[in-house]
Amino acid sequence: MTGELSPIDKAKFVAAKRAAEFVEDGMRVGLGTGSTAAWLVRCLGEKVREEGMRFRGVPTSTRTAELAREVGIEVITLDEARWLDITIDGADEFDAELNLIKGGGGALLQEKIVATASDQMVVIADAAKEVGSLGAFPLPVEVIPFGWTASQALIEEALVSMDVMGRKTTLRMDGDKAYVTDEGNHILDLHLSRIGNPRELALVLNQVPGVVENGLFIDICDRVVIGYGDGRVETRDINAGTVEEETMDFVESDNLFRDV
Ligand code: 5RP
Repeated sequence: MTGELSPIDKAKFVAAKRAAEFVEDGMRVGLGTGSTAAWLVRCLGEKVREEGMRFRGVPTSTRTAELAREVGIEVITLDEARWLDITIDGADEFDAELNLIKGGGGALLQEKIVATASDQMVVIADAAKEVGSLGAFPLPVEVIPFGWTASQALIEEALVSMDVMGRKTTLRMDGDKAYVTDEGNHILDLHLSRIGNPRELALVLNQVPGVVENGLFIDICDRVVIGYGDGRVETRDINAGTVEEETMDFVESDNLFRDV
């Protein structure tokens, strides 16, 4: 069954499977959004069904909430959980300090709230997500619909004094309409090519009226689990300064692939 998966999907799967091992009985767990996070949710659902594991999940989008319920995970809101033991999520880019660009899937706002309300955040990713400096992936910025063009103009003005290589901004579309997030907002994608100072940019963007949040996750991620198409996984812990490598088995999880 796994033979039908592309190497990139296999890489996402093994990263998710390894990270699922960090979840323990009784935990409150933030569940990310995106294709890698969907593998995590499936792996965790299997643990609930096959091993009788019990934990509560706080999804970061309606998509993830639907999948989590479907696979048997008990879903609660962040307000019910109040605080989380761990959040596991994908990323669009990560650098050597585990700073991230997130929001490619449009869920950055809930993702950032959930991740920062957690004892630890773990990112799961294929190796292609690692970059020397952030910014090749367009940086998503969530803006409220009211006056979004004014917010866009202010962002472009602010970018002039930032250490970035490109300054083009585009409104994310969903067909012929503006994309709408779970919170009813729009997303501006900032095509910056390279971000020299992500920390400064994150602060500046959030000062623009109409900006709700940006997709730069600075000092939020604690560990990254990097998957490879041949089953290898590398886990880097930024706080402990450790790197662990192991190889994951595809075979025992064949039932996870039936619906893919
Ligand atoms: C959603 C996200 C995702 O985590 C990010 O886009 C990575 O997605 P994928 O795992 O599909 O590559 O930030 O808002």
